[in-house]
Amino acid sequence: MSQKPLTIVVFGATGDLFQRKLARALFDLFVKKLLPVDTEIVGFARKDFSHDGFRGLLSEWALHRNHAGEDKGIEEFSARAYYHHGDLSDEKSYASLGAFLAERDRARGSCSDKIFYLAVPPNLYETVFVRLARSGLAIPCAPGIADEGEAWTRVLVEKPFGNDEREAERLDKLLGKLFSEEQIFRIDHYLAKETLQNIISFRFSNGLFEPLWSRKHIERVRLLFLERDDVSTRGSFYDGVGALRDVGQNHLLQMLALVAMENPKKMEGGAIRAARRRVLEKITGGGRDLTKWITRGQYDGYAAEAGVQKNSQTETYFRIVAGIVNSRWRGVPFTLEAGKALSESKVSVSVYFKPTPCLCPVSHEAPHQNVLTFSISPEQGISALFWAKRPGFEFGLEPKELSFSFSEGVIERQIPDAYERVLYDCIRGDQTLFASTAEVKAEWRFITPILEKWSRLPLLTYPKGSSGPTVVT
Ligand code: BG6
Repeated sequence: MSQKPLTIVVFGATGDLFQRKLARALFDLFVKKLLPVDTEIVGFARKDFSHDGFRGLLSEWALHRNHAGEDKGIEEFSARAYYHHGDLSDEKSYASLGAFLAERDRARGSCSDKIFYLAVPPNLYETVFVRLARSGLAIPCAPGIADEGEAWTRVLVEKPFGNDEREAERLDKLLGKLFSEEQIFRIDHYLAKETLQNIISFRFSNGLFEPLWSRKHIERVRLLFLERDDVSTRGSFYDGVGALRDVGQNHLLQMLALVAMENPKKMEGGAIRAARRRVLEKITGGGRDLTKWITRGQYDGYAAEAGVQKNSQTETYFRIVAGIVNSRWRGVPFTLEAGKALSESKVSVSVYFKPTPCLCPVSHEAPHQNVLTFSISPEQGISALFWAKRPGFEFGLEPKELSFSFSEGVIERQIPDAYERVLYDCIRGDQTLFASTAEVKAEWRFITPILEKWSRLPLLTYPKGSSGPTVVT
Protein backbone atom coordinates (compact mmCIF):
# COMPACT_ATOMS: atom_id res chain seq x y z
CA MET A 1 0.00 0.00 0.00
CA SER A 2 0.92 3.60 -0.48
CA GLN A 3 3.54 5.27 1.71
CA LYS A 4 1.84 8.64 1.22
CA PRO A 5 0.14 9.95 4.35
CA LEU A 6 -3.65 9.90 4.30
CA THR A 7 -6.21 11.64 6.48
CA ILE A 8 -9.79 10.41 6.54
CA VAL A 9 -12.10 13.04 7.98
CA VAL A 10 -15.48 11.66 8.98
CA PHE A 11 -18.26 14.21 9.39
CA GLY A 12 -20.84 12.65 11.70
CA ALA A 13 -18.35 10.36 13.40
CA THR A 14 -20.60 9.56 16.33
CA GLY A 15 -23.59 8.68 14.16
CA ASP A 16 -25.25 5.43 13.25
CA LEU A 17 -23.34 4.78 10.01
CA PHE A 18 -19.94 5.23 11.56
CA GLN A 19 -20.84 3.08 14.55
CA ARG A 20 -22.45 0.28 12.57
CA LYS A 21 -20.33 0.09 9.45
CA LEU A 22 -17.45 2.50 8.98
CA ALA A 23 -15.46 1.97 12.17
CA ARG A 24 -15.34 -1.74 11.56
CA ALA A 25 -14.60 -1.42 7.84
CA LEU A 26 -11.66 0.88 8.61
CA PHE A 27 -10.32 -1.52 11.23
CA ASP A 28 -10.64 -4.51 8.89
CA LEU A 29 -8.74 -2.63 6.18
CA PHE A 30 -6.10 -1.75 8.75
CA VAL A 31 -5.74 -5.40 9.82
CA LYS A 32 -5.48 -6.49 6.17
CA LYS A 33 -2.81 -3.82 5.68
CA LEU A 34 -4.86 -2.17 2.97
CA LEU A 35 -4.72 1.32 4.45
CA PRO A 36 -1.73 3.50 3.59
CA VAL A 37 0.90 3.04 6.31
CA ASP A 38 0.49 6.57 7.60
CA THR A 39 -3.29 6.84 7.80
CA GLU A 40 -5.02 9.03 10.36
CA ILE A 41 -8.75 9.18 11.04
CA VAL A 42 -10.27 12.41 12.23
CA GLY A 43 -13.76 12.17 13.66
CA PHE A 44 -15.80 15.36 13.46
CA ALA A 45 -19.09 15.70 15.35
CA ARG A 46 -20.94 17.85 17.80
CA LYS A 47 -20.54 15.75 20.92
CA ASP A 48 -17.71 16.66 23.20
CA PHE A 49 -14.97 14.00 23.33
CA SER A 50 -11.26 14.03 23.95
CA HIS A 51 -9.05 12.20 21.43
CA ASP A 52 -8.77 9.36 23.93
CA GLY A 53 -12.49 9.28 24.58
CA PHE A 54 -13.11 8.93 20.85
CA ARG A 55 -10.42 6.26 20.55
CA GLY A 56 -12.18 4.21 23.22
CA LEU A 57 -15.48 4.40 21.34
CA LEU A 58 -13.83 3.70 18.02
CA SER A 59 -12.30 0.50 19.43
CA GLU A 60 -15.69 -0.56 20.74
CA TRP A 61 -17.47 0.09 17.42
CA ALA A 62 -14.68 -1.42 15.34
CA LEU A 63 -14.85 -4.67 17.29
CA HIS A 64 -18.62 -4.73 17.40
CA ARG A 65 -19.88 -8.11 16.16
CA ASN A 66 -16.32 -9.39 15.85
CA HIS A 67 -15.54 -12.73 17.38
CA ALA A 68 -13.44 -12.93 20.50
CA GLY A 69 -9.74 -12.89 19.71
CA GLU A 70 -10.10 -10.62 16.71
CA ASP A 71 -8.98 -7.53 18.54
CA LYS A 72 -5.32 -7.85 17.62
CA GLY A 73 -4.08 -4.47 16.45
CA ILE A 74 -7.03 -2.51 17.83
CA GLU A 75 -4.88 -0.29 20.04
CA GLU A 76 -2.45 0.50 17.27
CA PHE A 77 -5.43 1.25 15.03
CA SER A 78 -7.31 3.51 17.42
CA ALA A 79 -4.11 5.38 18.29
CA ARG A 80 -4.30 6.68 14.71
CA ALA A 81 -7.60 8.41 15.44
CA TYR A 82 -8.26 11.99 16.50
CA TYR A 83 -11.42 13.81 17.38
CA HIS A 84 -12.43 17.29 16.43
CA HIS A 85 -15.48 18.65 18.14
CA GLY A 86 -17.54 21.04 16.02
CA ASP A 87 -20.91 22.05 14.69
CA LEU A 88 -21.65 21.24 11.05
CA SER A 89 -23.49 24.50 10.55
CA ASP A 90 -20.86 26.71 12.13
CA GLU A 91 -18.17 28.13 9.85
CA LYS A 92 -15.78 28.54 12.76
CA SER A 93 -15.82 24.77 13.28
CA TYR A 94 -14.53 24.26 9.75
CA ALA A 95 -11.83 26.86 10.23
CA SER A 96 -10.69 25.16 13.41
CA LEU A 97 -10.84 21.76 11.68
CA GLY A 98 -8.63 23.23 8.93
CA ALA A 99 -6.17 24.45 11.52
CA PHE A 100 -6.17 21.04 13.19
CA LEU A 101 -5.52 19.22 9.90
CA ALA A 102 -2.68 21.64 9.12
CA GLU A 103 -1.24 20.99 12.55
CA ARG A 104 -1.34 17.21 11.96
CA ASP A 105 0.26 17.62 8.52
CA ARG A 106 3.01 19.73 10.07
CA ALA A 107 3.60 17.08 12.72
CA ARG A 108 3.79 14.41 10.01
CA GLY A 109 6.16 16.53 7.97
CA SER A 110 4.14 16.57 4.76
CA CYS A 111 0.84 17.31 3.19
CA SER A 112 -1.48 14.30 3.44
CA ASP A 113 -4.08 13.11 0.94
CA LYS A 114 -7.51 13.84 2.33
CA ILE A 115 -10.85 12.10 2.22
CA PHE A 116 -13.93 13.84 3.55
CA TYR A 117 -16.61 11.30 4.38
CA LEU A 118 -20.09 12.78 4.82
CA ALA A 119 -21.66 10.28 7.23
CA VAL A 120 -24.43 12.77 7.98
CA PRO A 121 -28.13 12.90 7.05
CA PRO A 122 -28.59 14.05 3.43
CA ASN A 123 -30.45 17.19 4.50
CA LEU A 124 -27.13 18.46 5.86
CA TYR A 125 -25.14 18.01 2.64
CA GLU A 126 -25.79 21.51 1.42
CA THR A 127 -24.72 23.00 4.74
CA VAL A 128 -21.51 20.99 4.71
CA PHE A 129 -20.68 21.71 1.05
CA VAL A 130 -21.15 25.45 1.46
CA ARG A 131 -19.01 25.56 4.60
CA LEU A 132 -16.37 23.31 3.07
CA ALA A 133 -16.13 25.66 0.10
CA ARG A 134 -15.72 28.75 2.24
CA SER A 135 -13.21 27.17 4.59
CA GLY A 136 -10.70 26.20 1.89
CA LEU A 137 -10.63 22.65 3.26
CA ALA A 138 -11.10 21.24 -0.22
CA ILE A 139 -7.51 22.16 -0.96
CA PRO A 140 -5.20 19.43 0.33
CA CYS A 141 -2.34 21.49 1.72
CA ALA A 142 -2.37 24.34 4.16
CA PRO A 143 0.05 27.13 3.25
CA GLY A 144 3.63 26.44 4.23
CA ILE A 145 3.28 22.65 4.37
CA ALA A 146 5.48 20.68 2.04
CA ASP A 147 3.53 19.02 -0.74
CA GLU A 148 5.20 16.44 -2.91
CA GLY A 149 3.00 17.95 -5.60
CA GLU A 150 0.60 15.08 -5.66
CA ALA A 151 -1.64 15.28 -2.63
CA TRP A 152 -5.32 15.02 -3.44
CA THR A 153 -8.66 15.53 -1.74
CA ARG A 154 -11.71 13.36 -2.36
CA VAL A 155 -15.21 13.48 -1.00
CA LEU A 156 -17.41 10.51 -0.18
CA VAL A 157 -21.13 11.15 -0.06
CA GLU A 158 -23.86 8.77 0.97
CA LYS A 159 -27.17 8.24 -0.70
CA PRO A 160 -29.82 9.50 -1.14
CA PHE A 161 -28.08 12.39 -2.87
CA GLY A 162 -30.74 15.11 -2.73
CA ASN A 163 -34.42 14.66 -2.18
CA ASP A 164 -35.52 14.88 -5.79
CA GLU A 165 -34.16 15.74 -9.23
CA ARG A 166 -34.03 19.48 -8.64
CA GLU A 167 -32.34 19.27 -5.27
CA ALA A 168 -29.80 16.76 -6.58
CA GLU A 169 -28.99 19.19 -9.40
CA ARG A 170 -28.51 22.04 -6.98
CA LEU A 171 -26.21 19.92 -4.82
CA ASP A 172 -24.32 18.83 -7.92
CA LYS A 173 -23.69 22.42 -8.88
CA LEU A 174 -22.45 23.23 -5.43
CA LEU A 175 -20.27 20.17 -5.21
CA GLY A 176 -19.05 20.73 -8.76
CA LYS A 177 -17.63 24.11 -7.74
CA LEU A 178 -15.56 22.42 -5.07
CA PHE A 179 -14.51 19.12 -6.54
CA SER A 180 -14.17 17.68 -10.02
CA GLU A 181 -16.02 14.49 -10.99
CA GLU A 182 -12.86 12.44 -10.36
CA GLN A 183 -12.85 13.63 -6.75
CA ILE A 184 -16.50 12.86 -6.01
CA PHE A 185 -17.35 9.37 -4.81
CA ARG A 186 -21.12 8.91 -4.56
CA ILE A 187 -21.72 5.84 -2.50
CA ASP A 188 -24.25 3.20 -3.32
CA HIS A 189 -22.88 0.52 -1.05
CA TYR A 190 -24.87 -2.15 -2.88
CA LEU A 191 -22.67 -1.65 -5.92
CA ALA A 192 -19.78 -2.64 -3.68
CA LYS A 193 -21.39 -5.98 -2.79
CA GLU A 194 -19.65 -8.98 -4.26
CA THR A 195 -22.74 -10.73 -5.64
CA LEU A 196 -23.92 -7.56 -7.32
CA GLN A 197 -20.63 -7.22 -9.14
CA ASN A 198 -21.02 -10.84 -10.12
CA ILE A 199 -24.16 -10.01 -12.10
CA ILE A 200 -22.10 -8.51 -14.89
CA SER A 201 -19.25 -11.01 -14.65
CA PHE A 202 -21.72 -13.86 -14.82
CA ARG A 203 -23.89 -12.37 -17.56
CA PHE A 204 -21.14 -11.36 -19.92
CA SER A 205 -18.84 -14.34 -19.40
CA ASN A 206 -21.22 -17.24 -19.96
CA GLY A 207 -22.28 -18.21 -23.45
CA LEU A 208 -25.13 -20.12 -21.86
CA PHE A 209 -26.90 -16.91 -20.87
CA GLU A 210 -25.64 -13.94 -22.84
CA PRO A 211 -27.30 -14.89 -26.16
CA LEU A 212 -30.64 -15.27 -24.36
CA TRP A 213 -30.42 -11.95 -22.53
CA SER A 214 -33.24 -10.00 -24.17
CA ARG A 215 -36.99 -9.65 -24.60
CA LYS A 216 -36.92 -12.50 -27.07
CA HIS A 217 -36.22 -15.04 -24.33
CA ILE A 218 -36.81 -13.23 -21.05
CA GLU A 219 -40.35 -12.89 -19.79
CA ARG A 220 -39.81 -10.69 -16.74
CA VAL A 221 -37.29 -9.63 -14.11
CA ARG A 222 -37.99 -9.38 -10.39
CA LEU A 223 -35.83 -7.31 -8.05
CA LEU A 224 -36.39 -7.66 -4.32
CA PHE A 225 -35.15 -5.64 -1.38
CA LEU A 226 -37.10 -7.17 1.47
CA GLU A 227 -36.13 -6.59 5.08
CA ARG A 228 -37.40 -8.23 8.22
CA ASP A 229 -36.13 -5.37 10.39
CA ASP A 230 -38.30 -2.37 11.06
CA VAL A 231 -36.90 1.17 11.13
CA SER A 232 -35.48 0.53 14.59
CA THR A 233 -33.43 3.50 15.83
CA ARG A 234 -33.44 5.26 12.44
CA GLY A 235 -37.01 6.56 12.67
CA SER A 236 -36.29 10.25 12.34
CA PHE A 237 -33.98 9.79 9.34
CA TYR A 238 -36.27 7.29 7.65
CA ASP A 239 -39.43 9.29 8.14
CA GLY A 240 -38.05 12.12 6.07
CA VAL A 241 -36.87 9.77 3.35
CA GLY A 242 -39.17 6.74 2.93
CA ALA A 243 -38.53 3.42 1.24
CA LEU A 244 -38.45 4.73 -2.33
CA ARG A 245 -35.68 7.24 -1.66
CA ASP A 246 -33.93 4.98 0.83
CA VAL A 247 -33.41 1.92 -1.35
CA GLY A 248 -35.40 2.45 -4.58
CA GLN A 249 -33.75 5.50 -6.12
CA ASN A 250 -30.32 3.92 -5.60
CA HIS A 251 -29.82 0.24 -4.67
CA LEU A 252 -32.71 -1.23 -6.64
CA LEU A 253 -32.15 0.92 -9.72
CA GLN A 254 -28.46 0.08 -9.72
CA MET A 255 -29.33 -3.61 -9.49
CA LEU A 256 -31.63 -3.13 -12.45
CA ALA A 257 -28.89 -1.31 -14.36
CA LEU A 258 -26.48 -4.21 -13.90
CA VAL A 259 -29.01 -6.77 -15.14
CA ALA A 260 -30.14 -4.71 -18.09
CA MET A 261 -27.11 -2.75 -19.31
CA GLU A 262 -25.36 -3.38 -22.59
CA ASN A 263 -21.92 -4.99 -22.64
CA PRO A 264 -19.45 -2.25 -21.62
CA LYS A 265 -16.85 -4.11 -23.72
CA LYS A 266 -14.09 -3.52 -21.20
CA MET A 267 -13.75 -3.92 -17.46
CA GLU A 268 -13.01 -0.29 -16.90
CA GLY A 269 -14.77 2.20 -14.60
CA GLY A 270 -15.67 4.80 -17.22
CA ALA A 271 -17.14 2.25 -19.64
CA ILE A 272 -19.11 0.42 -16.95
CA ARG A 273 -20.53 3.63 -15.49
CA ALA A 274 -21.50 4.85 -18.94
CA ALA A 275 -23.26 1.54 -19.72
CA ARG A 276 -25.17 1.70 -16.42
CA ARG A 277 -26.11 5.32 -17.07
CA ARG A 278 -27.39 4.61 -20.58
CA VAL A 279 -29.86 2.00 -19.38
CA LEU A 280 -30.92 4.05 -16.33
CA GLU A 281 -31.90 6.80 -18.75
CA LYS A 282 -34.28 4.41 -20.51
CA ILE A 283 -36.32 3.32 -17.50
CA THR A 284 -39.97 4.13 -17.74
CA GLY A 285 -43.14 3.64 -15.74
CA GLY A 286 -46.48 2.19 -16.68
CA GLY A 287 -48.46 5.28 -17.62
CA ARG A 288 -50.39 8.13 -16.03
CA ASP A 289 -52.47 6.04 -13.68
CA LEU A 290 -49.89 5.18 -11.06
CA THR A 291 -52.19 2.80 -9.23
CA LYS A 292 -51.86 0.42 -12.18
CA TRP A 293 -48.15 -0.09 -11.64
CA ILE A 294 -47.30 1.12 -8.14
CA THR A 295 -48.30 -0.08 -4.69
CA ARG A 296 -47.19 1.69 -1.59
CA GLY A 297 -47.61 0.66 2.00
CA GLN A 298 -46.77 1.32 5.61
CA TYR A 299 -46.48 -1.29 8.34
CA ASP A 300 -48.87 -1.25 11.28
CA GLY A 301 -47.34 0.61 14.18
CA TYR A 302 -44.83 2.58 12.09
CA ALA A 303 -46.25 5.94 13.19
CA ALA A 304 -45.60 5.00 16.82
CA GLU A 305 -41.88 4.35 16.21
CA ALA A 306 -39.41 6.70 17.91
CA GLY A 307 -38.60 9.72 15.77
CA VAL A 308 -41.56 9.17 13.41
CA GLN A 309 -44.33 11.78 13.00
CA LYS A 310 -47.56 10.62 14.60
CA ASN A 311 -49.59 11.00 11.41
CA SER A 312 -46.75 10.00 9.11
CA GLN A 313 -47.61 9.21 5.50
CA THR A 314 -44.13 7.87 4.77
CA GLU A 315 -44.05 4.57 2.92
CA THR A 316 -42.15 1.62 4.35
CA TYR A 317 -43.00 -0.54 1.34
CA PHE A 318 -43.36 -0.13 -2.40
CA ARG A 319 -43.77 -2.25 -5.45
CA ILE A 320 -43.20 -0.75 -8.88
CA VAL A 321 -43.55 -2.39 -12.26
CA ALA A 322 -41.19 -0.52 -14.57
CA GLY A 323 -40.01 -1.04 -18.11
CA ILE A 324 -37.04 -0.16 -20.29
CA VAL A 325 -37.55 1.52 -23.62
CA ASN A 326 -34.89 0.08 -25.83
CA SER A 327 -34.79 -2.67 -28.40
CA ARG A 328 -33.40 -5.23 -25.98
CA TRP A 329 -36.05 -4.85 -23.29
CA ARG A 330 -39.17 -3.24 -24.72
CA GLY A 331 -42.24 -4.92 -23.17
CA VAL A 332 -40.38 -6.81 -20.41
CA PRO A 333 -41.70 -5.91 -16.93
CA PHE A 334 -39.08 -5.18 -14.27
CA THR A 335 -40.69 -5.42 -10.83
CA LEU A 336 -38.97 -3.54 -8.02
CA GLU A 337 -40.21 -4.43 -4.54
CA ALA A 338 -38.89 -3.23 -1.20
CA GLY A 339 -40.10 -3.02 2.35
CA LYS A 340 -39.32 -3.02 6.05
CA ALA A 341 -40.83 -5.23 8.77
CA LEU A 342 -41.64 -8.00 6.32
CA SER A 343 -41.75 -11.74 6.88
CA GLU A 344 -38.28 -12.32 5.45
CA SER A 345 -35.05 -10.58 4.57
CA LYS A 346 -34.10 -11.13 1.00
CA VAL A 347 -32.27 -9.05 -1.57
CA SER A 348 -32.21 -10.75 -4.94
CA VAL A 349 -32.61 -10.43 -8.68
CA SER A 350 -34.53 -13.14 -10.53
CA VAL A 351 -34.63 -13.41 -14.29
CA TYR A 352 -37.59 -15.45 -15.58
CA PHE A 353 -37.07 -16.97 -19.00
CA LYS A 354 -40.02 -17.52 -21.30
CA PRO A 355 -41.42 -21.03 -20.96
CA THR A 356 -40.85 -23.31 -23.93
CA PRO A 357 -43.30 -26.03 -24.97
CA CYS A 358 -43.21 -28.82 -22.44
CA LEU A 359 -42.24 -32.31 -23.53
CA CYS A 360 -44.47 -34.11 -21.12
CA PRO A 361 -47.93 -35.66 -20.94
CA VAL A 362 -50.74 -33.14 -20.70
CA SER A 363 -51.60 -34.35 -17.20
CA HIS A 364 -48.10 -33.27 -16.11
CA GLU A 365 -48.24 -29.89 -17.73
CA ALA A 366 -46.94 -27.51 -15.07
CA PRO A 367 -45.93 -23.87 -15.39
CA HIS A 368 -42.31 -24.49 -16.09
CA GLN A 369 -39.77 -21.90 -16.83
CA ASN A 370 -36.09 -21.39 -16.19
CA VAL A 371 -35.26 -18.86 -13.52
CA LEU A 372 -31.82 -17.46 -12.86
CA THR A 373 -31.49 -15.90 -9.41
CA PHE A 374 -28.72 -13.71 -8.07
CA SER A 375 -29.00 -13.81 -4.28
CA ILE A 376 -27.37 -10.80 -2.73
CA SER A 377 -28.41 -10.87 0.90
CA PRO A 378 -28.45 -12.64 3.31
CA GLU A 379 -27.60 -15.56 1.02
CA GLN A 380 -24.86 -14.77 -1.46
CA GLY A 381 -24.85 -16.92 -4.53
CA ILE A 382 -26.34 -17.71 -7.90
CA SER A 383 -28.85 -20.40 -8.76
CA ALA A 384 -30.55 -21.55 -11.93
CA LEU A 385 -33.80 -23.42 -11.93
CA PHE A 386 -33.96 -26.14 -14.56
CA TRP A 387 -36.50 -28.81 -15.37
CA ALA A 388 -35.52 -32.46 -15.45
CA LYS A 389 -37.25 -35.78 -15.79
CA ARG A 390 -38.86 -36.99 -12.61
CA PRO A 391 -37.42 -40.47 -11.93
CA GLY A 392 -39.93 -43.22 -12.56
CA PHE A 393 -41.96 -44.90 -15.25
CA GLU A 394 -43.57 -41.70 -16.52
CA PHE A 395 -42.20 -38.73 -18.43
CA GLY A 396 -42.87 -36.12 -15.78
CA LEU A 397 -40.87 -33.00 -15.06
CA GLU A 398 -39.60 -31.67 -11.79
CA PRO A 399 -37.62 -28.54 -10.94
CA LYS A 400 -33.93 -28.93 -10.14
CA GLU A 401 -31.55 -26.26 -9.05
CA LEU A 402 -27.96 -25.72 -10.13
CA SER A 403 -26.43 -23.36 -7.68
CA PHE A 404 -23.37 -22.13 -5.90
CA SER A 405 -23.05 -20.09 -2.78
CA PHE A 406 -20.56 -17.66 -1.33
CA SER A 407 -22.19 -17.85 2.07
CA GLU A 408 -19.98 -20.56 3.39
CA GLY A 409 -17.09 -20.32 5.82
CA VAL A 410 -13.81 -19.53 4.14
CA ILE A 411 -15.21 -18.02 0.96
CA GLU A 412 -17.53 -15.74 2.90
CA ARG A 413 -14.65 -14.47 5.00
CA GLN A 414 -12.70 -13.61 1.86
CA ILE A 415 -15.48 -11.34 0.64
CA PRO A 416 -14.77 -7.75 1.64
CA ASP A 417 -17.60 -5.96 3.37
CA ALA A 418 -19.22 -3.38 1.08
CA TYR A 419 -17.95 -0.46 3.18
CA GLU A 420 -14.42 -1.85 3.16
CA ARG A 421 -14.65 -1.92 -0.60
CA VAL A 422 -16.07 1.62 -0.73
CA LEU A 423 -13.21 3.02 1.37
CA TYR A 424 -10.54 0.96 -0.36
CA ASP A 425 -11.66 2.01 -3.84
CA CYS A 426 -11.91 5.66 -2.84
CA ILE A 427 -8.35 5.55 -1.49
CA ARG A 428 -7.04 4.07 -4.72
CA GLY A 429 -9.21 6.37 -6.84
CA ASP A 430 -11.28 3.71 -8.60
CA GLN A 431 -14.82 4.99 -9.27
CA THR A 432 -16.27 1.87 -10.93
CA LEU A 433 -18.44 0.96 -7.96
CA PHE A 434 -19.67 4.50 -7.35
CA ALA A 435 -22.61 6.20 -9.03
CA SER A 436 -21.65 9.00 -11.39
CA THR A 437 -23.39 12.38 -11.43
CA ALA A 438 -25.17 11.36 -14.64
CA GLU A 439 -26.37 8.06 -13.16
CA VAL A 440 -27.79 9.76 -10.08
CA LYS A 441 -29.50 12.28 -12.35
CA ALA A 442 -31.05 9.49 -14.42
CA GLU A 443 -32.23 7.73 -11.26
CA TRP A 444 -33.94 10.90 -10.03
CA ARG A 445 -35.44 11.52 -13.43
CA PHE A 446 -37.39 8.28 -13.05
CA ILE A 447 -38.20 8.60 -9.33
CA THR A 448 -39.12 12.29 -9.04
CA PRO A 449 -42.37 12.20 -11.08
CA ILE A 450 -43.48 9.26 -8.94
CA LEU A 451 -42.71 11.16 -5.73
CA GLU A 452 -44.63 14.16 -6.99
CA LYS A 453 -47.78 12.05 -7.17
CA TRP A 454 -46.92 9.93 -4.16
CA SER A 455 -49.51 11.41 -1.82
CA ARG A 456 -52.27 10.67 -4.31
CA LEU A 457 -51.59 6.96 -4.14
CA PRO A 458 -53.33 4.98 -1.41
CA LEU A 459 -51.05 4.11 1.50
CA LEU A 460 -51.96 0.52 2.32
CA THR A 461 -51.16 -0.78 5.78
CA TYR A 462 -49.72 -4.22 6.37
CA PRO A 463 -49.07 -6.20 9.52
CA LYS A 464 -45.49 -6.41 10.73
CA GLY A 465 -43.97 -9.73 9.74
CA SER A 466 -46.27 -10.16 6.71
CA SER A 467 -45.37 -10.18 3.05
CA GLY A 468 -46.55 -6.59 2.54
CA PRO A 469 -49.91 -5.04 1.66
CA THR A 470 -52.53 -7.15 0.00
CA VAL A 471 -53.38 -5.62 -3.32
CA VAL A 472 -57.01 -5.95 -4.29
CA THR A 473 -57.27 -6.15 -8.06
C1 BG6 B 1 -29.21 1.21 3.46
C2 BG6 B 1 -30.61 1.65 3.81
O1 BG6 B 1 -28.72 1.93 2.36
O2 BG6 B 1 -29.19 -0.17 3.18
C3 BG6 B 1 -31.18 0.81 4.94
O3 BG6 B 1 -30.58 3.01 4.19
C4 BG6 B 1 -31.04 -0.66 4.64
O4 BG6 B 1 -32.52 1.13 5.19
C5 BG6 B 1 -29.59 -0.96 4.28
O5 BG6 B 1 -31.44 -1.40 5.78
C6 BG6 B 1 -29.37 -2.42 3.91
O6 BG6 B 1 -28.00 -2.58 3.71
P1 BG6 B 1 -27.26 -3.92 4.14
O7 BG6 B 1 -25.87 -3.74 3.63
O8 BG6 B 1 -27.35 -4.01 5.62
O9 BG6 B 1 -27.99 -5.01 3.44
